[in-house]
Amino acid sequence: MQTNIQAETARRRTFAIISHPDAGKTTLTEKLLLFGGAIQTAGAVKSNKIKKTATSDFMEIEKQRGISVATSVMTFEYNNLKINILDTPGHKDFAEDTYRTLTAVDSVILVIDCVKGVEEQTERLMEVCRMRDTPVIIFINKLDREGQNPFDLLDELEEKLSIRVRPMTWPVNMGSDFKGVYSLIEKKLYFFKANKTKVEADVLPIDLADDLLDTKVGVRDAAQLREDVELIDGVYDSFDRQAYLDGKLAPVFFGSAVNNFGVKELLEGFCDISPEPIARPTDKREVEPGEKNFSGFVFKIHANLDPRHRDRIAFLRICSGVFERNKFYHHTRLDKNVRFASPFSFMADSKSVVEEGFPGDVVGLYDTGTFKIGDTLTEGEELQFQGIPSFSPEIFKELVNLDPMKSKQLDKGIQQLTDEGVAQLFTLELGNRKIVGTVGELQFEVIQYRLENEYGAKCRWVPLNYTKACWITAENPVKLAEFIRLKGNQIAYDKDQNPVFLAESDWMLRMNEQNNPDVTFHLTSEFKVAV
Ligand code: G4P
Repeated sequence: MQTNIQAETARRRTFAIISHPDAGKTTLTEKLLLFGGAIQTAGAVKSNKIKKTATSDFMEIEKQRGISVATSVMTFEYNNLKINILDTPGHKDFAEDTYRTLTAVDSVILVIDCVKGVEEQTERLMEVCRMRDTPVIIFINKLDREGQNPFDLLDELEEKLSIRVRPMTWPVNMGSDFKGVYSLIEKKLYFFKANKTKVEADVLPIDLADDLLDTKVGVRDAAQLREDVELIDGVYDSFDRQAYLDGKLAPVFFGSAVNNFGVKELLEGFCDISPEPIARPTDKREVEPGEKNFSGFVFKIHANLDPRHRDRIAFLRICSGVFERNKFYHHTRLDKNVRFASPFSFMADSKSVVEEGFPGDVVGLYDTGTFKIGDTLTEGEELQFQGIPSFSPEIFKELVNLDPMKSKQLDKGIQQLTDEGVAQLFTLELGNRKIVGTVGELQFEVIQYRLENEYGAKCRWVPLNYTKACWITAENPVKLAEFIRLKGNQIAYDKDQNPVFLAESDWMLRMNEQNNPDVTFHLTSEFKVAV
């Protein structure tokens, strides 16, 4: 079994595609699945269309989220690799879901729209990747449109995303005059032709000095390409895989997802360089994927709001050993043994029961409220996976009970919903007031609806003008206690009783940091371990 685990681990690639909405993530996902034979027709990946819903009607969104369970993890085989794409919701109100999914991958592909460059959500997603030094490949998309100058785009990427970049391919023009890309590694020219169904581009192995280049792309463009490549070689170091694996250097590919152009080169580049499942930190030690004993953690919980199918699914990322159906595993937080009769794997449009899973795989577990985000399963060892932090919410509201007879139900409901990761719960010491923090308005509607429908509790929301929650620590406990006393109503406690400072603005936060040098302010809950 041991060699089996190692061989199976070595052929797993688990990653996520991330982008600002509309940059082309869904389109790229779909094209990759077509290459892998996981789907036969375009349009099969519906999940990201959630964001297209102009309405803020969350039940409508929820219906679509139901569809998205099946596409939460998309698996396909390519070049003898088993590739797992973990889907991330496009809707910005579900950003927290995306952040958590990023804790379960080994690398990411970041899609950038060449017209728009680095957008707001791109920066935030990259911040999360940098926390764990996740290796990143960048795909600059929509080259069939008049985009920004590619050198300017690279500068912008380096500057805004704080990562070094290295082009692997280079475009010959853009927009209506887009002729193709030159692979700097393979020394091949790929000719562009707008074509949504064809998967192989016409390709010509060619040295840049060859006169044939002038004939193929025209004298002016050939001269430009030679000049660009000379500049690239002068400015950028050659590609260093270790720097990529360390999350310090992002290789960049250019293409047009909708035209299936540059996608195969991206996929092959990904297969060549992306990491297999890596060791993961726990509160006790690092867990190596090749270890004999199984371990894994829950990174996402999906609750179905449809009253006819009120199921809850926990997504478990396998970190080591082999996960087997019907075997008892140790739930370390609850200190109890649990087993699963029908764990399932995900395909693009269906789910099926699995007998076993290997490191890098994600299995879906039917859950009746046993799990919360970050829970760890092992074969008995007492450990807890790290690197699944909570991030500071952006919108805060006080939860007010409208029916004093139902306060128990309300307490239980909000506790369980926040365990699922729908939102974060903070409690103000004064008066035991409950503050709920989210990254999107939609979650408040979801919570209100679910409290009423699932727990029979009615509530209303009182908006609060905080924009950040920072976990606070201090080397000297006296200093921390002093700060907490001083700030009184701006101090709340998270679910694990850690003190949190609520700030009205970034400016207020900086002021407090400056004025209280003995206190450290953390933007995520997991400050004790280096992730
Ligand atoms: P997202 O998941 O990142 O939000 O983006 P998505 O793939 O849904 O793509 C957003 C829009 O960009 C889509 O158009 C898609 O067809 C288009 N697109 C993707 N890749 C390219 C490309 O290489 N070139 C050009 N010109 N467009 C591209 P839409 O009109 O919003 O939707 P649809 O009706 O085409 O599905």
